Amino acid sequence: MPSLADRAASRRKFLQFLAASPLLGAGGAFAGEGLMPQSKLPDPLTWAPMRADELIKSPKEAINVFDFEPVCRQNVPPAHFGYMASGIDDEATLRANREGFLKFQLRPRRLVDVSKVDMTTEILGVRYDSPIIVAPIGGQRAYHEEGELGTARAAKAGNHLQILSTATNSNVEDVIAARGAPIWYQLYATNKWEVAKAFVTRAEKAGCLAVAVTVDRSGGRNQETLFRLRRTDTRDCNACHDRSSLQASLTRRAMYQGVDVSGLRNTQSSNMTWDFFKRLRDTTKMKIVIKGILAWEDAVMAADNGIDAIIVSNHGARSEDSGRSTIDALPEIVEAVNGRIPIIVDSGFRRGSDIVKALCIGAQAVCIGRPYIWGLGAFGQSGVERVLELLRTETYAMMQQVGAPSIKQLVPAMVRRA
Ligand SMILES: Cc1cc2nc3c(=O)[nH]c(=O)nc-3n(C[C@H](O)[C@H](O)[C@H](O)COP(=O)(O)O)c2cc1C
Repeated sequence: MPSLADRAASRRKFLQFLAASPLLGAGGAFAGEGLMPQSKLPDPLTWAPMRADELIKSPKEAINVFDFEPVCRQNVPPAHFGYMASGIDDEATLRANREGFLKFQLRPRRLVDVSKVDMTTEILGVRYDSPIIVAPIGGQRAYHEEGELGTARAAKAGNHLQILSTATNSNVEDVIAARGAPIWYQLYATNKWEVAKAFVTRAEKAGCLAVAVTVDRSGGRNQETLFRLRRTDTRDCNACHDRSSLQASLTRRAMYQGVDVSGLRNTQSSNMTWDFFKRLRDTTKMKIVIKGILAWEDAVMAADNGIDAIIVSNHGARSEDSGRSTIDALPEIVEAVNGRIPIIVDSGFRRGSDIVKALCIGAQAVCIGRPYIWGLGAFGQSGVERVLELLRTETYAMMQQVGAPSIKQLVPAMVRRA
């Protein structure tokens, strides 16, 4: 039997080990268990924390967009949810996309009549009810059977611009019909010009107003959250995904029907340079937008090369784990572009205050990604509608609070870098 003195010594040793452990440094994994008694309660106390086990039962119950995520998690197969939620490697960018907003603080003006706020926004010549755009997200039937058509009907309800992914499960023609208005088409050009041309020609014929060329997916990626959650998925993935070859898997994708994909080894555009855009300009009358700009030098080159607009985006932290948020990248890009072309931004936008900060800095509009997929996965179209409504409501309230009765009255002086 160890003596009392021995036990005390070994306990001291254990505590010393813990004190040196990164676990404690990281925020007290053992706090509250008696090892590190807290001298005081947290201030402020959190009285009503969101609980992942208390799920909303209808879109109306949602207080914010985050309420949809655990419902989506419950409904959607783990592999699909993992694909949606995943960032890259350590997911530093994923966190940065949210934390970045804390570096910017609003600086509201008072005594302005904001009894009525006009959120209407013109984007490349078309007026929408708000500056909130539905980002392109591929394969939406992985989250709900209504897929892109449900999203389109929800975008119609709130008169939002919708951007449709090349990896859509539904035909571009059907999505435009469901949206009841022209949309934008997002292009994954691949490394084969004929494939890109086929997509662009079809999208233009269908009535798309712009082609948003995604330029931030040129390398491989380690989607660890996807890979870990996929291991927990017990369904037979081969029942839906034909993984025998890239060509076989593409035949199931709506936009690839009738397109000659021979020779393709993946769907990325690793050989794309600025020359691509000259060729594209000669091929289409649609407006050309570049999605995935993060450096001001590229933004200036886009303007120099006659691009109609850019989307500052890190692909929702799905491209490279740079650790830099898009709200961090935005100010220098706005400054360098100097009003020559419109700047849209996305990645990590979840609150009206996030949207208002970006608009104050100089973005013209903001794309929303995962939150509407949480809504779709949770409740289908009505979930997407409610997510967009919550974002509109929060943005409206925040515009009132900072003293901006219209979008153009959101100015740089209303935001400061902390
Ligand atoms: C599941 C998923 C699929 C996506 N698919 C595409 C796509 O097909 N094309 C594209 O340009 N961007 C795609 N994106 C990126 C979004 O368009 C957008 O940039 C990103 O979701 C914004 O970040 P957020 O999700 O934090 O709002 C995808 C994002 C997610 C989460």
